[in-house]
Amino acid sequence: MNMLDQLKALEQEALATLAAALDAASLEEWRVAVLGRKGTLTHALRGLGQLPRDERPAAGAEANRVKDRLEAAFTTRQETMQQAEIARALAAEAVDVTLPGRPPSLGRIHPSNAVLRRIYAIFGQMGFQVYDAPDVELDEVNFQLLNIPPDHPARDMQDTFYTKDPRVLLRTHTSPGQIRAMRDHAPAPLRVILPGKCFRYEQVTARSEFMFHQVEGLAVGKGITMADLKGTLQEFANQLYGAGRHLRFRCSYFPFVEPGVEVDMDCILCGGQGCRLCKYSGWLEISGAGMVHPVVLRNGGYDPEVYSGFAFGMGPERITMLKHRIDDIRYFFSNDVRFLEQF
Ligand code: DAH
Repeated sequence: MNMLDQLKALEQEALATLAAALDAASLEEWRVAVLGRKGTLTHALRGLGQLPRDERPAAGAEANRVKDRLEAAFTTRQETMQQAEIARALAAEAVDVTLPGRPPSLGRIHPSNAVLRRIYAIFGQMGFQVYDAPDVELDEVNFQLLNIPPDHPARDMQDTFYTKDPRVLLRTHTSPGQIRAMRDHAPAPLRVILPGKCFRYEQVTARSEFMFHQVEGLAVGKGITMADLKGTLQEFANQLYGAGRHLRFRCSYFPFVEPGVEVDMDCILCGGQGCRLCKYSGWLEISGAGMVHPVVLRNGGYDPEVYSGFAFGMGPERITMLKHRIDDIRYFFSNDVRFLEQF
């Protein structure tokens, strides 16, 4: 076979194997085998020098043509392969921008805060301002100034968390706020509610948590009587639970009021007939209350000969439990969204 035919045959075979190269690896193999330093084409080009002089021009021209052709075919093939690779990646990694987004889950008001806000609104309409008192209190304000001296048996019911300083504790009720509000306002009349967290060091059960909220109420002025207390709580019950509620005031003892009462409301479930919710009594306890004790008035800076006042204390978690028939107070602060999402 002469040189020209050899070059043609080499070209045909190289083009055929190039067409069969389907991936980057076989393409590279082909380049090395044909165009590489020891490749078939390179070998043929070297052979040109041995040709008789008169054959060289034609063979040289043909060799250059084959070389250009194969290099161009290689480049085309390489580009086609790269395009195909890009197209494949685009298809595989395609993002469907028409898909609807994932909605972020929205938070909501905690049931305790929701009831607190309702309570603020109701007492706000009746002229009560919200007064903020500290959660960390002095023993003196939490107990002593409220007529509960160090050895008083009423302390047994309100054990709490103490700090290293025995004079400083976490308040067991919102009542110490009464002293702080009075000292802030005395001798002017005042009407405040004192909401906030309270703490008790006791066994946590379905009915008692170590932390819970209370809302204290306090009105001090000239000529305030028990009738004002009853009217205020009646209006509150009507607003929160619906018009026409019946209230009952039972004598009770709290060291910081005299007389002291516990306030019951006709059962919201059975209306007084007796059911499981009210333990077949027909009544639900909603608040402790009373007329501010003269000693407490004096400790707050008011002359009990001139001023009188009423106070009450209620638990918003208890109110919420009654309203939604929740049977375990621990749900409020265990942070289980399955509970919280229901409100
Ligand atoms: N501080 C009382 C308690 O936590 C509740 C209470 C009772 C508050 C009578 C009052 C009140 O203001 O007059 O058990």
